[in-house]
Amino acid sequence: MNDMPGVTRREFVRLFAAAATASVVGSKMCFSTVVAQITDSGLPSGFFHIRISDFPALQNNSGSVRLGINRVSSSQPTGGNYPIIINRESSTVFHALDSECTHASCVVGAYIAGASSCPCHGSRYGIDGRRLSGPAPLSLKKFPITFDGADVLSVEIPNLGFTVTSSFVMAGAKSRLMLSFPSTLGAEHEVMFRENLGQSWVAIKFATTPEGTADKAFIPGNDRVLKVYADRATESGFYAVTIKVKAV
Ligand code: FES
Repeated sequence: MNDMPGVTRREFVRLFAAAATASVVGSKMCFSTVVAQITDSGLPSGFFHIRISDFPALQNNSGSVRLGINRVSSSQPTGGNYPIIINRESSTVFHALDSECTHASCVVGAYIAGASSCPCHGSRYGIDGRRLSGPAPLSLKKFPITFDGADVLSVEIPNLGFTVTSSFVMAGAKSRLMLSFPSTLGAEHEVMFRENLGQSWVAIKFATTPEGTADKAFIPGNDRVLKVYADRATESGFYAVTIKVKAV
């Protein structure tokens, strides 16, 4: 079961938050999301938390999924981000791999029939990202991944995450919350809300102008800073700007 209405089973979101009063999104786990957290180094990392049960391909050994925030053409990302490949080697061993081929940066496919293959010049990589054959000089880059032993995988993507700033603006007689954030080309940004930290995030509609109708479910990213405007349903609460990520 997905705890974020409006987010389909095969989608998850990169997530960072701005609240009515302060930045939010603590360490509370959000399933099928990526939460930006400050690490011991002081740098923000993105933490993907996904349920294996949401991805049938990961329920068997040698299963694999490729997940991304922007689409992929035949060999290149259509936005600025490469997908991540998650492979299941055994009941307890998983691998999270950068899909960028180490030869000439084409997008490598999911692990199928014994290899992740590059569509450009045929390099092949093993289930753990190790180079098997072809012109690629190196293995695929790996990301730290942990398994809770039951259903949840957590993947750390260093330096992923973005800052959302918030302020109140007047729209006629009422105030709205303006959220400003650096958008990502090719991504679909959504706005989430929860009244307190014990609640699940809920996707809400928003406006793209201070006095516009709040009827937008998402806004496409363009690599520029975007501003969206949310009506305040309650006096206090937490707002998050998220990015959908899909199996690509
Ligand atoms: S870009 Fe992958 S083999 Fe050349």
